[in-house]
Amino acid sequence: MLAALAVAEGETHLDGTFGAGGYTRAILSAGAGRVIAFDRDPDAIAEGRALEAECEGRLILVSERFSRMGEALDARGVGAVDGVTLDIGVSSMQIDRADRGFSFQSDGPLDMRMEREGESAADFLNTADEAEIADVLHDLGEEPRARRVARAIVAARPITRTGELADVVRRALGHRPHEKKDPATRTFQAIRIHLNRELEELEEGLAAAEQVLRPGGRLAVVSFHSIEDRIVKRFLRERSGATPSGSRHRPDAGAGGPAPSFEAVGKPVRASEAEIARNPRSRSATLRVARRTSALPWVSVVEKGRQS
Ligand SMILES: C[S@@+](CC[C@H](N)C(=O)[O-])C[C@H]1O[C@@H](n2cnc3c(N)ncnc32)[C@H](O)[C@@H]1O
Repeated sequence: MLAALAVAEGETHLDGTFGAGGYTRAILSAGAGRVIAFDRDPDAIAEGRALEAECEGRLILVSERFSRMGEALDARGVGAVDGVTLDIGVSSMQIDRADRGFSFQSDGPLDMRMEREGESAADFLNTADEAEIADVLHDLGEEPRARRVARAIVAARPITRTGELADVVRRALGHRPHEKKDPATRTFQAIRIHLNRELEELEEGLAAAEQVLRPGGRLAVVSFHSIEDRIVKRFLRERSGATPSGSRHRPDAGAGGPAPSFEAVGKPVRASEAEIARNPRSRSATLRVARRTSALPWVSVVEKGRQS
């Protein structure tokens, strides 16, 4: 990830997903002059304050969603940045703390809210109708037996604990000895992505990165699920002009469509065996890197096209 970002001495980088600060620390150690790091989880930001103080102005923490990076940079008087990093998904801190309700391995309240506000997993599962739950499990968890799981959830309501939900799913799907993964994995993933609007955040975050990167600036995105990687892949194909014209962004942009705003850097990178041994979660991780060109961001091109 770090090599791909090609951090140069004194640059300003934006880490959209601070988490425990691993990437931020690496970017600072590589010589960046300043890192502006976002996390939507107030606990991650609170735990990062000590590092922020140690860095004496080289690290600025922002308790905000990365989709709002443009507004947050404007508010701090920061112009274009040299690099944007997004490491999509949940942190080990979120998974490891049972009280956050993300884990099916330890029992806790059925919560799963990254921002600690809004609808909880329990609110959703205890009020949504069966079809809506099934759609979420199918679309965001790629659960092949989504209807069966949704029916079992509705029959077991109210459900208030992660342990209860995991048991309901395991009973509904049965134990399949050839399956390495816990059958509850897909259900927990789907509900988490739904509640936190993670796919919408990713789409909006990519478009925001296009706005804040200077020409030549690098975008590095690590995603953990094929469902997220597809969004990144589609965005970069489109913005680099690899998608034939006629896509939903192009028709109103005038003859020939907008000039490519990104160029891909290298091929997508999957985790090495050594990386997987160190961090088993990285097994399905994919890193994609692209360089910002000097063309206008597509959103403003399309808006201009509409105004004229
Ligand atoms: C996989 S972890 C990042 C780990 C980090 N790279 C590190 O080295 O410690 C993802 C983090 O991103 C945060 N996050 C997820 N979606 C976000 C969003 N839309 N905006 C800001 N932070 C987000 C989560 O709260 C979590 O702390």
